[in-house]
Amino acid sequence: MHGIFISMEGPDGSGKSTQLELLKEYLSKKGYEIIVTREPGGTKISEAVREIILNKEYTEMGYMTEALLYASARAQLVSEVIKPALDAGKAVISDRFIDSSAVYQGMARGLGVENVYKINEFATQGVMPKLTIHLDLPAKVGISRKNDQKELDRMELESMEFHERVAEGYRKLALLAPERIYTIDATQTIEAIHKQIVDKIDNILS
Ligand code: TYD
Repeated sequence: MHGIFISMEGPDGSGKSTQLELLKEYLSKKGYEIIVTREPGGTKISEAVREIILNKEYTEMGYMTEALLYASARAQLVSEVIKPALDAGKAVISDRFIDSSAVYQGMARGLGVENVYKINEFATQGVMPKLTIHLDLPAKVGISRKNDQKELDRMELESMEFHERVAEGYRKLALLAPERIYTIDATQTIEAIHKQIVDKIDNILS
């Protein structure tokens, strides 16, 4: 595999999409061919699975079902988009990847990080990001941002305790994999966060 794979992670409302767009522009200007994708989603089938997962009418969805649906959307995205792009030497930036499952399903839902990684290793064929940007933000700030922007989906409608477990889960995960996960304080300005991301990436690429 020759391309570079970067994932963007953080609690709901941490500003991932904004930073992803800025990063895409930056890397394009540097001459990289960029594939931007999001999870759950990024392919026709994965977007259809996303509709099921986030549908707030499915209040009866079991945690294992949820974890397997995320993994199935990911399996399709990896085989249809991410793997071919990396094999062709492109840069892939993904709004969320395997760590979202480790944190939301493994930690916040309590399924266990090991179990979640196990099913996801199968789903991803071992494809892992070279760098993961973790936008760290208090759960309350993120959810109130989301609430101002749109109608909340099934996950965003979870309790504040759930979202706090998510925010804390990301911090724990970042400590477990410091060589891959780079944490940034997402309460800073958009420009300051972008600069930190760019500095880190330049460092890795050089
Ligand atoms: P996202 O697309 O980032 O939400 P939005 O577009 O509304 O900002 O993610 C959808 C939700 O799914 C989000 O609450 C996080 C959750 N999620 C998981 O619980 N596990 C996963 O593996 C992934 C990829 C997302």
